[in-house]
Amino acid sequence: MKGIILAGGAGMRLYPASLPISKILLPIYDKPMIYYPLSTLMMAGIRDILIITTLEDIDNFKKLLGDGSQWGISLSYVPQLVKKGIADAFILGEDFIGADRVALILGDNIFYGNGFEQILQSAKQNTAGATVFAYEVRDPERFGVVSFDKAGNAVSLEEKPKTPKSNFAVTGLYFYDNKVVSYAKQLKPSSRGELEITDLNKVYLAHNTLHVARLERGFAWLDTGTHESVLQAANFVHSMQLNQGIEIACLEEIALQKGFITKAELAQTLSKCPSNTYYQYVSRLLNKK
Ligand code: G1P
Repeated sequence: MKGIILAGGAGMRLYPASLPISKILLPIYDKPMIYYPLSTLMMAGIRDILIITTLEDIDNFKKLLGDGSQWGISLSYVPQLVKKGIADAFILGEDFIGADRVALILGDNIFYGNGFEQILQSAKQNTAGATVFAYEVRDPERFGVVSFDKAGNAVSLEEKPKTPKSNFAVTGLYFYDNKVVSYAKQLKPSSRGELEITDLNKVYLAHNTLHVARLERGFAWLDTGTHESVLQAANFVHSMQLNQGIEIACLEEIALQKGFITKAELAQTLSKCPSNTYYQYVSRLLNKK
């Protein structure tokens, strides 16, 4: 399965901080925002990942992440020259996806919770159709919203509805079969001129091939599009890391756990890194059983 991170957008809600640099490169506490969605794809066992961003930002992403070999993954990059919406990722990524299935994650989405790896594995095992994740929120009108019938089956999807039919937001992580490319090509731009991810999911819903997995209470999903939510996410990461002494979204740790790299390879990478709190944590991994 392939993975795509959509790291585009002007990030205007974070101006002026995101004026000279993509908001997806701004820090969430001790690491750049993109580390979090990248860690999610790696936890799903996805090693071939395309990063879609603006032409101006591509070099900054390459400077930070390179070709991914330090984490035993392969990263490639494609620019989105015109802001055409989230579903455009599958048109831009057509060659990259090839005949494979694909998971898409938005660059500003952070997922954290017990059992997440299991949730990702189940989504990956659905070989036909699409899997999306529903998360209960206070302000559903800010998101794509899914509603359910009494039996718990998804019955409607709406993008940022004024009067939401439920409190369940559709998060920015999506798993699709290979039909996604042809479905994306058939979409018409919405009133704001974008190929909407919600319209794409509606196609799967209409074909009865949309699986909606609920992320239960106790699970954290954060969308870091505003100053308020960036701070909230940073505080969350900080307090979790402080309490438990473990790093959230430590790419080196996931790569090691998943067997993408060996300890010897990690030691080699570390020899070129400064000894700050992040890399001190990473070097302690070398001595762990
Ligand atoms: C996008 C999607 C929306 C989804 C959200 C999740 O909205 O359009 O359906 O719920 O991501 O983060 P955006 O945050 O780009 O406005």
